[in-house]
Amino acid sequence: MKKEKDAQLMEKIVSLAKRRGFVFPASEIYGGMAGFWDYGPFGVELVNNLKQLWWRRVVQEHDNIFGVDGAIIQNPKLWEASGHVAGFTDPLVDCKNCGARHRADHLADTESADVAELTELLKDIACPTCGKKTLTAPRKYNMMMKTWVGPIEDDSSVAYLRPETAGSIFTNFKNVLDSIHPKLPFGIAQIGKAFRNEISPRDFIFRVRELEQMEMQYFVTPDMQEEAYQRWRSFAWDFLRDDLQIREDNLEWHEHEESERAHYAAAAHDIYFNFPQGMKELWGTHNRTDFDLSSHAKASGQDLSFLDDATGERTIPYVIESSVGVGRMLLAVLVNGYTEDELGGEKRVYLKLNPAVAPVKAAVFPLLKNKPELVKKARDIYESLKKIEPNIMWDDNGNIGKRYRRQDEIGTPVCITIDFDTLDPSTNSGQETVTLRDRDTGEQTRVALDKISSTLGF
Ligand code: GAP
Repeated sequence: MKKEKDAQLMEKIVSLAKRRGFVFPASEIYGGMAGFWDYGPFGVELVNNLKQLWWRRVVQEHDNIFGVDGAIIQNPKLWEASGHVAGFTDPLVDCKNCGARHRADHLADTESADVAELTELLKDIACPTCGKKTLTAPRKYNMMMKTWVGPIEDDSSVAYLRPETAGSIFTNFKNVLDSIHPKLPFGIAQIGKAFRNEISPRDFIFRVRELEQMEMQYFVTPDMQEEAYQRWRSFAWDFLRDDLQIREDNLEWHEHEESERAHYAAAAHDIYFNFPQGMKELWGTHNRTDFDLSSHAKASGQDLSFLDDATGERTIPYVIESSVGVGRMLLAVLVNGYTEDELGGEKRVYLKLNPAVAPVKAAVFPLLKNKPELVKKARDIYESLKKIEPNIMWDDNGNIGKRYRRQDEIGTPVCITIDFDTLDPSTNSGQETVTLRDRDTGEQTRVALDKISSTLGF
């Protein structure tokens, strides 16, 4: 099922992300750079919340999954053995008239990377830049980002920025075995940056050249592969639905045809999300078989087998991989949460974020900025709440309506207002109270000071 594209929605999300400090174009004052983005103050909080939640669910809640944090640059032999130097390619076409370069599969609107198939599909297609039918035949283009290590820039000093975090998980397989002594099945997880020289970065932070991945490789015996594959597929779906509260009608499964699969994968199921540009890949689960450990064992000359103490048998484990991009997840959360409605007769925009990932958990306001006794009381409440939940924000800028609108757009689940009734407990049966205002309904309730944190679940 392909849902309608919504170009306007993407514009609105990009504009909100900029206006409210989530995502900025990288080096914007110099005109930016295609495929590179910076996270602003609320973006970085949201990113950290997504990563912490994933890490907790994947690593900390499993006693057989271990974290690593590998270097971005590794010995280039790793990427030769993994097949990336030869096979990490996208199909590219050039325009002989205007020189523009395009991804052949995007022009042909197919998921296939098969060059013969693409050549046929592109026969009558014009260059989207100049409109002329002057495209070359598709050819394969390697997406690895290259650099040189050390002072001399020659072939012997070429190195690559990693195209996926998985590489150093495989090269640390033996280190984890030797230091932790786990039994099969067990997993190794990593969160970190990866780099891809994408031909056409686009759709805001959906397709970028510097990305961050959250990956976990689950090592199994061949007879465990099917069960593990289904389990990690379900894990991804449940995480999106339950932890991020992504609506299930925004998600669907996509099984890879053989022509779509990466060079290492025997089976692959993606979860597609209803991005404004269409249903597109968000999270992949792949069966990488014993391809990686066998290739690295062969190329390095090291023994990367697993010894079963009980049977004395050695096997090269199979790998079930769970892999998702942090930026794509953030975009999905923004798109899923973006809501326009009318509240009190006024149009407004708010981000319906699960409080667990919201960058600000609550904002504290003094009703008026120019009343010192209100400001002092509000400040005291703010300081004491901040000791329990650090992601609390102070906001006394503009009138109260403006503050609500700002917090709605940041996705802050609740605003706490300190007013004159707070200072006069006789108005509330002798209790000091504040107003809690709910982001989604705009409803306001009075709550006793000592009940704020329990009401908000801090
Ligand atoms: N280790 C397996 C692997 O890297 P992939 O399907 O190429 O598989 C995994 O990438 C995930 O990384 C994707 O599902 C997506 O979320 C994210 N991703 C890949 N390329 C990306 C790009 N250019 N920009 C943003 N995210 C990307």
